[in-house]
Amino acid sequence: MISQQLNDTITRTDPGTDAGAVLRRYWQPAALSDELATNRPVVPVTLLGEKLVLFRDNDGNLGLIDRFCAHRGADLCLGRLEDNGLRCPFHGWHFDRTGQCVEQPGEPEGSRMHESIRNTSYPVVEKNGIIFAYMGPGDPPPFPNFDCFRAPDTHVFAFKGLWECNWLQAMEVGIDPAHASFLHRFLKDEDPADSYGKQFRDKAADTNIPMTKLLRDYTNPEITVEETEYGLRLIALRHLDEAQSHIRITNQIFPQAISIPMSREMIITQWHVPIDDEHCYWYSMFTSFTDPVDKELMRAQRLKEHRLPDYAPLKNKRNNYGFDPEEQKTETYTGMGMDINVHDQWAVESPGPIFDRTREHLGKTDVAIIKYRRMLRAAIAAVKDGNEDALPMRGEVDPAVIYGPISNDTIGDRQDWRAVSAKSDAERRAGCNDWDATV
Ligand code: FES
Ligand SMILES: [Fe+2]
Repeated sequence: MISQQLNDTITRTDPGTDAGAVLRRYWQPAALSDELATNRPVVPVTLLGEKLVLFRDNDGNLGLIDRFCAHRGADLCLGRLEDNGLRCPFHGWHFDRTGQCVEQPGEPEGSRMHESIRNTSYPVVEKNGIIFAYMGPGDPPPFPNFDCFRAPDTHVFAFKGLWECNWLQAMEVGIDPAHASFLHRFLKDEDPADSYGKQFRDKAADTNIPMTKLLRDYTNPEITVEETEYGLRLIALRHLDEAQSHIRITNQIFPQAISIPMSREMIITQWHVPIDDEHCYWYSMFTSFTDPVDKELMRAQRLKEHRLPDYAPLKNKRNNYGFDPEEQKTETYTGMGMDINVHDQWAVESPGPIFDRTREHLGKTDVAIIKYRRMLRAAIAAVKDGNEDALPMRGEVDPAVIYGPISNDTIGDRQDWRAVSAKSDAERRAGCNDWDATV
């Protein structure tokens, strides 16, 4: 358990907060490209407690500016998208994508007042279906050469979902390799042939063992956590017998993403992004090493579980996550259906909007959570000291030479897990014909 003061320090991200200052040193997912694929590409974005509006101007360029007009605060989300910018319907003040006010049609002719009026604006970049924003001081860092950014658009599918809780407890479920054997347990195995687009439903590595069975039968993995240039590498070994282990490698990407294998052909990179302190979005990029991603199928699978425009899950705390006691007896560990996202959502929302960590008791399986919090506290201290170069993927390290990160499931010699996993990942990458996946 930790003190209330420390819990506040590591969870709160509004302007002026400690963790918020760290998150602002990194590109943050702000919206899906899908959200702007309309006749009027203007959407509200609340990010790290800041209310903003994202739009695409007539030239096709993106702008992310303060949601409220610099005149008398009207909401620009209902602004007129015209003249290569956004015009406030109240008195017609017109803003370009940099937030600069370029016209005040109601002011006296010849007035140059607009030259000194500027709404806050943040740089934005679109990458394979996600629009990222940089809300920190100085120049944004270059993007790392991760698989999800290197792969062509055809091989990456992006989606998001709303969770009603603080971003940190959402992220912590992703660096907890033990929970998969319980929270995501299926009491029956379905045909792995139906597993496309779903996690933990494929066969385990090159065996015929369904992943569901493996997770169910081997419940206490040996977990090792290593520090890396991008964050943490998590190794979970499930020992099958004296000689063989299932080896699962996942990653924490600082400050709030994870990278995990989804199936043999795809990996998931997932960010947990604060909307405000009590709500967050997960943003996932599903990256394929083999065929182009079937985006239509993957989108349809997920839209069945979410409503638009806010991507709120249809199962949620107001309907008890669809809990069915009969199903809990016979089908799933949770009784909350087959979508593992719902299981995770219950696990992270039910402790409350900001989990009171003065009441927690971390065990051995929580080793990555402990290490992560240490990294976050070190980063907070570095930002306070003005020593930003000490942050992961900032300073001396050139993010452009950071690849992967390697996320992989395989089975092999338990003593030699490092070589076994490296070989299995190298084979997968060598077989990637549509893009250069070598690391
Ligand atoms: S409030 Fe926007 S122009 Fe007046
Ligand atoms: Fe999970």
